[in-house]
Amino acid sequence: MKSRLVLALGLSLAALVPQIVSAETVWLDDLNLSAATQGWGEPHKNQSVDGKPLTIAGQSFARGFGTHAESKLHVNLNGGAQSFSASVGVDDDVNGSAASSVEFIVLGDGKELWKSGVLRAGNAAKACEVNLAGVKSLVLEVTAAGDGIDSDHADWANAKFETAAGKPEAVAGETPLAAVTPYILTPAAPATPRINGANVFGVRPGSPFLFTIPATGNRPMEFSAQDLPHGLKLDAATGRITGKLKKQGEFIVILGAKNALGTAEKKFRIVVGDQIALTPPMGWNSWNCFAGAVSAEHVKSAADAMVQSGLINHGWTYINVDDYWQNHRNSKDPTLHGEFRDAKGFIVPNARFPDMKGMADYIHNLGLKAGLYSSPGPWTCGGCAASWLHEEQDAQTYAKWGFDYLKYDWCSYGSIASGKITNAMNIPLYGKSATNDAGAIYPYAVMGKFLRDQKRDIVFSLCQYGMADVWNWGGSVYGNCWRTTGDITDTWRSMSGIGFKQDKCAPHAQPGNWNDPDMLVVGQVGWGHLHPSRLTVDEQYTHISLWCLLSAPLLIGCDMTKLDDFTLNLLENDEVIAIDQDELGKEATCVETNGDVRVYEKELADGGRALGFFNLGPASVDLQFNDLAKLGFTGSLNVRDLWRQKDVADVNAASGTLPLTIPAHGVVLYKLTAAK
Ligand code: GLA
Repeated sequence: MKSRLVLALGLSLAALVPQIVSAETVWLDDLNLSAATQGWGEPHKNQSVDGKPLTIAGQSFARGFGTHAESKLHVNLNGGAQSFSASVGVDDDVNGSAASSVEFIVLGDGKELWKSGVLRAGNAAKACEVNLAGVKSLVLEVTAAGDGIDSDHADWANAKFETAAGKPEAVAGETPLAAVTPYILTPAAPATPRINGANVFGVRPGSPFLFTIPATGNRPMEFSAQDLPHGLKLDAATGRITGKLKKQGEFIVILGAKNALGTAEKKFRIVVGDQIALTPPMGWNSWNCFAGAVSAEHVKSAADAMVQSGLINHGWTYINVDDYWQNHRNSKDPTLHGEFRDAKGFIVPNARFPDMKGMADYIHNLGLKAGLYSSPGPWTCGGCAASWLHEEQDAQTYAKWGFDYLKYDWCSYGSIASGKITNAMNIPLYGKSATNDAGAIYPYAVMGKFLRDQKRDIVFSLCQYGMADVWNWGGSVYGNCWRTTGDITDTWRSMSGIGFKQDKCAPHAQPGNWNDPDMLVVGQVGWGHLHPSRLTVDEQYTHISLWCLLSAPLLIGCDMTKLDDFTLNLLENDEVIAIDQDELGKEATCVETNGDVRVYEKELADGGRALGFFNLGPASVDLQFNDLAKLGFTGSLNVRDLWRQKDVADVNAASGTLPLTIPAHGVVLYKLTAAK
């Protein structure tokens, strides 16, 4: 239904005014709402996403658009639009869910025109009034406000345009780019020995030490480790260093690798202290490929493939089972039936994981490390038994089995958090004092402490989607990494939407503490239904380059037994990986925006800087980049293309230009160092 407001003008007045001014109301719900994309359910006209009457904090609305974060509706205004208005909020059909939080954003011609701030269940509808003079296209967006999309039912109620001419029209958003034929940039590793991976390794006094020297080159290879501290020993045939170091301290060891064609050496720093994960953890996780179908056989095969593919020689280490190693509360699958805990309260794995210790041993015997998953609530996100009120027993069990990594979610803790927000156990917080919402911190402080009590180094990975600005306090609860966003999926929108929004947490990355923008979506992924990643080849180069610049934990999410050449090469470029593993531990931020191009810069331990030039647009971009001085570079610089592992130019920061061709959604990744 349209309503028309015509300013009726008397004849005498009309003579003075050159044209009749009219405004027409066009209701948003009269547009083709099926053009919207959203994170769950279908777009609804005049109803919530659940098909109920639109209601925000008890206030009912007859008209509007009921959607679900993450949601986008693209609208062509077709000229003459004057304004947009709406009442926005979380629909009451979420029944007050604590997980529900959204942000409404109005973008005009790519610029932010209005945003609501974070709105939660029960918050009154917020008035949105936007002037559209001169605006050609609009995007109505609802984000998950940084905590995942759970219960994010969002209403654009009473939403309408006032337009003087031209009728707004909903259109499909950006269409996925055409496939790009895979092309490999990573040069083959030489047959002569080369020692790859991080230059530093952290261990706590008394913890079992396991480090496998990652080295490429023909086998057989003989390893050496000069000045290895007392307490450690090297297996010269496998390159595995094991043992225990009793006291705090720092040791410089010269690692060596020798084969029939030559030798290689590398300076390696062992730091015995409080902190582990001095560089971002690298490995594999079962979720993005197997999700709820995972078994111990899958996990062991992934470990085998990590070795057979040669990825272990580039520093890939952890083999992590995600959700579904425990029994399930109500699954129909008989392999998930069984007692949750034994008579003493210790967790019992499901029938697919008959021998957790045996599985961890199997992984260790390959020179790799083992990880698992739980949640602080009674149930994991998938509905399996989780750690609530059994945190200490679980930490002890993980250590007894020999696990080296725990990913600890949030699921099903929300309702507990609302009633239990004090630090009742008086858990001492480590390092910085935690000042944020105690309810969000508490379960991690509990598990963090119990993990620390074990005589084993267990990387503690918080998976609570960035709530309560986790980057401010994650380190204080012994967290080594923390998710900063909801779950990733293998689309450009998801990957780029996460990857290019990390600046706010960047200052908090440091050795031992990493922001985690979620796992990698390259190779065969699919959460139980495998398919090749839907990211184009260039988008995958962007994904890996960006995650390395962000100092992100690198967890491969694909079926390791189905690695194709392209994916393998994407994951074994040592110069690219070195950016992620740089011991300074800085995280890149966006230092320049130039049209569709974003420039990311990361400071490196050797005084060099990595620059990623990302093209977010749908067409290839040619650019003469001459802003080096503006970015603070001085003097003569050596420019190295990291994907091609090739020096491309020596350039003067003040007068030089870098000619760049950046494919659509692709990247050019350079390292700049002072020229010799
Ligand atoms: C959450 C996490 C995922 C995965 C699943 C398991 O969604 O974000 O990475 O661990 O839980 O159920």
